[in-house]
Amino acid sequence: MLSSSPATGPERFFSTIKRGSLTCCGFVKTLTLAGLMFMGVGLVALGEEEKPKFTIKQIMNKAMKGGLCTKVASDKASDAEKQELILLFTALVANTPPKGDAADWKEKTTTLLACAKSGDGAKLKKAANCAACHMLYKGK
Ligand code: HEC
Repeated sequence: MLSSSPATGPERFFSTIKRGSLTCCGFVKTLTLAGLMFMGVGLVALGEEEKPKFTIKQIMNKAMKGGLCTKVASDKASDAEKQELILLFTALVANTPPKGDAADWKEKTTTLLACAKSGDGAKLKKAANCAACHMLYKGK
C-alpha cells in the first residue's frame, strides 16, 4: 500500500498548482490523494514509535549478560560501546515488561538510561541491579 515514495503525492500536488491547470475535479482528487498519503506516513511513523528496536531479551543478552553494561560502568568501554549501550537502554524504556507496573518500569529504565548517558560508573552499576529488577518485572 505504501510502496510508492512519499514525495510523489505532495510533489505532484504542488506542481499541479504551479502549472495552474487545476480543475475542480482534479483538485479534489489530488487533495484526496495527498490526504491518504499523509495518513499513510502518519501510520508508519506511529508504528515505528510503538515498536522498540530490540526486545527486552535481546537487550538483556547483549547489554547485561553480554557484559556491555559492566564494561561501561567500569569505564573500560570505547565510545562506540557507550553509544551502543545508550541505544539498547533507549529501546529498553520503550518496551513493556512481562510483569509489573508499566509506569514504574518506564521510570526505572529511564533512570538506567540517564546513568548510562551520564558516564557515572558507580551510579550505573547501582541502577543496573539484575536481581532487584528481575524480581519486579521478569516473568517466571
Ligand atoms: C531494568 C530492569 C532490568 C535490569 C536492571 C536487568 N534486567 Fe535482565 N531482564 C529484565 C526483564 C524484564 C527480563 C524478562 C524479559 C522477557 O521475558 O521478555 C529480563 C531477562 C533477562 C535474561 C533472560 C533473557 C532471555 O533470553 O530469556 C537474562 C539472561 C538477564 N535478564 C540478565 C540480566 C543481568 C545479568 C542483569 C544485570 C547485569 C540484568 N538482567 C539486569 C529486566 C532487567
